[in-house]
Amino acid sequence: NNPPWPAYRGYHEYSFAHATMQARLPTILGKAIEDTTRTLNEQSDEELVVDLVACIDRMGELMTDLSGNAKLRPIVDDGEADVALWNKEIAKYFQGKDFMNAPWLFAEAYKYRRLHEAFSVSKHWRDYDVFYRQKCDTFSRSADAVFELSMRFADPFKIEEGLSPAERLEAERLMFLELTQVCLWGNSTDLSLLINMTEEQIKNLQSTGGDHLAATEKNILGNHLNRLWETVKELREKTGGRIDFVLDNAGFELYCDCVYADFLVQSGLASQVRFHGKRYPWFVSDVTKKDWDWLLNSMVYGQLFPKASDTELESLRRLGRRWKQYEKEGKWVYEQHPFWCAGYTYWDLHSEAPDLFLHLSRSDLVYFKGDLNHRKLTYDCAAPASTPFEIAIGPMASSAGAPKIASLRTIKSDVVVGLGDDGDQIAEMLDKKEPGWKISGKYAVVLLSEGRPG
Ligand code: F6P
Ligand code: MG
Repeated sequence: NNPPWPAYRGYHEYSFAHATMQARLPTILGKAIEDTTRTLNEQSDEELVVDLVACIDRMGELMTDLSGNAKLRPIVDDGEADVALWNKEIAKYFQGKDFMNAPWLFAEAYKYRRLHEAFSVSKHWRDYDVFYRQKCDTFSRSADAVFELSMRFADPFKIEEGLSPAERLEAERLMFLELTQVCLWGNSTDLSLLINMTEEQIKNLQSTGGDHLAATEKNILGNHLNRLWETVKELREKTGGRIDFVLDNAGFELYCDCVYADFLVQSGLASQVRFHGKRYPWFVSDVTKKDWDWLLNSMVYGQLFPKASDTELESLRRLGRRWKQYEKEGKWVYEQHPFWCAGYTYWDLHSEAPDLFLHLSRSDLVYFKGDLNHRKLTYDCAAPASTPFEIAIGPMASSAGAPKIASLRTIKSDVVVGLGDDGDQIAEMLDKKEPGWKISGKYAVVLLSEGRPG
């Protein structure tokens, strides 16, 4: 049940796998150790201090394993719901493999699992998030784009009076296309690539105005936006469908996801939105329940933006209050299945997490956000760029009960599929003209799979 193309591995020097395994991951781990040391220096209680020092020691062991390219050992039973999934996969496929010769996707996820283990076996620091400071900080430095959106969308979505049904539908279609792009490009600001970005750099990445979106649409190399609209507009007939978001990053990206989900609910296209996050810190900036709560509560009660005007702050509070209300009413539901922090790709989702597969198969449309989710959908392998999305995601498209799936992803790593019949030529041309095009986040794909009835 595997694709015919080889998965990327750390020793593939031509791929981003190599740079990630050799340089990026040790840098990220080094920053995590710095963050924990900062927390340690703020402690006074001896028991807490001693417990945290042990966590730092375990992170040091991980650093030694990573930089010495050690063999991947089983995960210690720390009581997490995913331990069995991890150790089964290691025993079955990766006995004797090390960080560099195991598939990149697996080895990278394994590193984040080991980082979590450094804390999860402790008494007092199980839930400590080494990336939390960074996640909060980047959102508070995103003021311009945050208020641009809140000022526009705090008022409930309303279509101009006096339009014909066809004109109303057209207005809604345009809004859908615009907000799908807002949601898509929200993915370009993940923290694992942009560790030290300036406020100006963040601003450029996040500009959300209409003209800007028209210009960026040409960077969507595989573009099913129109088909996506055709799918979503049908949902109103059912008096609103259930739409799921398999989330990616916290802070600004999550905020964009919520603006989009808010529109889907208000326009009656969706009656319920289910958000799927991670159970613990993952790939630096991914959303945990704490990040979710932090965003909504900071919007309503926080003081993150000292330079903002009263009107701006009020618009943010109104949005936040409405979103919290959706949660209370069950229109928005936050979930965290253990499978999202496992090492498996989604080619194995139906067999390794059948309960989750069944749950997703009841959704009318599942959005997968971001680069990592895209790598997991496509097995992170060297498929040609002309490969149709539905072939590239294997069982997630072909299994009975497979839901409709949309992948909204800015391209930050090697695997690129769904570019159409001349996709291989497009990729070749970009390889020549713009060597870093697969990791810059400048390009994107919006790809749809129609699913298969159960
Ligand atoms: O490190 C691998 C990777 O997939 C990168 O390509 C990307 O920088 C990062 O992880 C996470 O990206 P995203 O948050 O969009 O999933
Ligand atoms: Mg991420």
